[in-house]
Amino acid sequence: RTVRIIGAPTDYGANRRGVDMGPSAIRYAGLADAVERTGANAADAGDLFVARAEERDPDAEAPAGDAKFLREVEEVSERLAEEVAETVADGELPLALGGDHSIAIGTLAGTGRDAEIGAVWFDAHGDFNTPETSPSGNVHGMPLAAALGRGAFADREWAQSEGLREENVAIVGLRSVDGAEREALRESAVTVYTMSDIDARGLTPVVEDALDVATDGVEGFHVSLDLDWLDPGEAPGVGTPIRGGVSYREAHAAMERVAARDAAGDAVLRSMELVEVNPILDEHNETAELATELAASALGKRIL
Ligand code: ARG
Ligand code: MN
Ligand code: MN
Ligand code: MN
Repeated sequence: RTVRIIGAPTDYGANRRGVDMGPSAIRYAGLADAVERTGANAADAGDLFVARAEERDPDAEAPAGDAKFLREVEEVSERLAEEVAETVADGELPLALGGDHSIAIGTLAGTGRDAEIGAVWFDAHGDFNTPETSPSGNVHGMPLAAALGRGAFADREWAQSEGLREENVAIVGLRSVDGAEREALRESAVTVYTMSDIDARGLTPVVEDALDVATDGVEGFHVSLDLDWLDPGEAPGVGTPIRGGVSYREAHAAMERVAARDAAGDAVLRSMELVEVNPILDEHNETAELATELAASALGKRIL
């Protein structure tokens, strides 16, 4: 199969500059070669155009007054959704590179355009805020709620993923959630596995359950990998690090479960994204290298 690499160099959804350099750092870490070593072809589609933030007003057309750069996020999301939908229609697997996690709005809109899909969200955060509940106004804390059309996203079709239902969404490794976001998650049909669940049950059974949720009755599943899912000791190059994340080995084990589920073929891996790598905060590009390695594991890299 062919994996099409799509860079989305945006930091409109985050309040830290630098995450827009993620696609360069991940490519520099050898992503295309790592993809090819799994036996897949790597086709690099280059980066989407993203206007410089300095030229934009953060509050322009902000709905409900509270989401920063929402107009810019819409522009990037529409471009990314188009590219992702085309990639899937061509029978290829889109691998989107962030950028901050707001890019998931575009990836999910594109991959969910013509099929029922599920999603596994590997993240320290729930990213389930809406403009109404967000304490920060940063859209990277909202993409899952946006894709599901919650709150102020209910009448913003560009943000929604047509084929994604809450019942097919699982968050894995949650350990940082805001007050109103917690309530929203509790009343939603999204399945949440916290770090406590991983501690109590072990990583593999938790990820298998999450994959059951994301593959139930759908054609394919999306994997969203926020590098802050890992412990900051392993992945220092992220904008919103939270202590107590998964280890290097647990992260690989999770991605290997993704590959195994994809190979089993009931619902295939339909799209994936690597987000929140911030080279300015990184140490010798190690977080970008980790992102590259984890993508290879998800795409079927084997030790033997
Ligand atoms: N919950 C916080 C917020 O809404 C942090 C979100 C961090 N999200 C991320 N993709 N790193 O601002
Ligand atoms: Mn996160
Ligand atoms: Mn539009
Ligand atoms: Mn996130």
